[in-house]
Amino acid sequence: MHQDVEKILFTQEELEDRVRELGRQITEDYQGKEVAVASVLRGSYIFMADLTRAIELPITVDFMAVSSYGAGTVSSGQVEIKKDLSDSIEGKNLIIVEDILDSGNTLYYLMDVLRARKPESIRICTLLDKPERRTKPIRADYTGFTIPDAFVVGYGLDYNEKYRNLPYIGILKPEVYGG
Ligand code: IMP
Ligand code: MG
Repeated sequence: MHQDVEKILFTQEELEDRVRELGRQITEDYQGKEVAVASVLRGSYIFMADLTRAIELPITVDFMAVSSYGAGTVSSGQVEIKKDLSDSIEGKNLIIVEDILDSGNTLYYLMDVLRARKPESIRICTLLDKPERRTKPIRADYTGFTIPDAFVVGYGLDYNEKYRNLPYIGILKPEVYGG
């Protein structure tokens, strides 16, 4: 695993520190509010586990899974819900937790679907943001790190379903893609 990584972008310690800061910020912003935290599987599973433990509020947690159609690495903008949230979000202050905001297709679509369910508010918390790749007008309310246009793995993020369990975030060696 480790030998396939060209460069470590964020170490385990850097991730811990930043996630703790995000949790503190959310804790401050949502004092006295009913908060539902929902994450999009599978890439955000580790971020979700760490972030929710850094939020000192009586939150609920929920999960959904989506897939986007499209050839190869380019997502078409069509998103299908594979697993929906288990709980109603009506009247709740919803925080959507994502691993990475790339083209923005996934969240642009999801925001529409979720807004129709009449939550009190919706905000997006993404661990990583690649603004250079954005094709949809969408931005996160909380961002862990802004990164350049490189394919990253680890801390939940995969390449072909592998490398999710790396404790850090790194850039893969080009030969791993056959590139
Ligand atoms: P978007 O719909 O293009 O914003 O894509 C978001 C999804 O694409 C993320 O939730 C990831 O699952 C995946 N993705 C985008 N960039 C990367 C990356 O650099 N590494 C791993 N997965 C990525
Ligand atoms: Mg993925």
